[in-house]
Amino acid sequence: SVPSENVQGLAQEMGDTCMEIPERYIRPELDVGVTAICDDDDDDDESGSDDKVPIIDMKRLLDPNSSLEESAKLHSACMDWGFFQVVNHGVSDEVIEKVKVDLEEFFMLPLKEKEVFAPLPGGLQGYGQKLVLNEEKLEWQDMMFLITQPPHARNFTFWPTSPPTFRSTLDKYSTELKSVSRCLFDAIAKNLGLNPEVLCGIFKDHQRMRMNYYPPCPKANQVLGINPHTDAGGLTLLLQVRDVQGLQIKRRGKWLPVEPLEHALVVNIGDALEILTNGKYASVEHRVMVNNKKERLSIAAYHSPSFDHIIGPLPELKQGSCEEYYKTMKYDKYLEFHFIAKVEGKNHMDYMK
Ligand code: SIN
Ligand code: FE2
Repeated sequence: SVPSENVQGLAQEMGDTCMEIPERYIRPELDVGVTAICDDDDDDDESGSDDKVPIIDMKRLLDPNSSLEESAKLHSACMDWGFFQVVNHGVSDEVIEKVKVDLEEFFMLPLKEKEVFAPLPGGLQGYGQKLVLNEEKLEWQDMMFLITQPPHARNFTFWPTSPPTFRSTLDKYSTELKSVSRCLFDAIAKNLGLNPEVLCGIFKDHQRMRMNYYPPCPKANQVLGINPHTDAGGLTLLLQVRDVQGLQIKRRGKWLPVEPLEHALVVNIGDALEILTNGKYASVEHRVMVNNKKERLSIAAYHSPSFDHIIGPLPELKQGSCEEYYKTMKYDKYLEFHFIAKVEGKNHMDYMK
């Protein structure tokens, strides 16, 4: 596999020269008939409407007076949606604002300055594009991938030095998100009747971040920012940097947009958590569309098991006559299946049954 070209540069060139979008970005078969979000629909309160990702209030989750009610909401979001937005997550506005500003500033740098942080051959960390196979369609985005936790696993060779605060900002943000994820894993364990140590043990300290930059595209309805996929790990916490819609989730056979909600984190269940819960919680397919006028930025923080952790349906969740729906294997072995499935266009879970 080879890295594809820089999309920011390509978009710029197209703007300057009226050049057409290269064929490899165009998806003739793209289903853009998405379910629209109704803003004026007023029965989307506690009872939950079906066209909006549920919103979980972490303050209410932690408050003994409201915790039962909010936990039930979380449980049903994990089972029925696989996605939810978290508000009052405790990460200060200051930290959120700073990480947005620093990331934008980094992506706005001239290509030459960013390429200093390009991945080494065969490496994953750094600034650039996803590795692609020969015939594969290309995604309309540039990204930066970094291991952010545990701190001793960081490789600063790939951490930007411009803007000068980038590293300390990302360090703060990463630490804060780690505690948000811990709090969610705790609440999830409780909801599943598990000892809290079980999930926190598995998802102890691994965090990786993918920072995404999607330039505007004149043929926005014919390209994809990110192909349909599921996340491999436990919980992904996503920050949408600007008020630009793009993320869509597969819901009852249709693509449903997730609207950006100021200061909220979009959380989704990954494959490892679906497997551990023997399918009780859903790892839901999602994709990213791009905008024709505005650029979009986002930061996804993945909280995953360590590679040598054994992942399979938890014995505590298999009581009674319940069948095991997934094979048990080391997480790194599972990741191989996850990536093969992507290449072969299969459902990742077909390999697990
Ligand atoms: C994803 O990481 O799958 C979605 C990222 C985004 O919404 O930009
Ligand atoms: Fe994802």
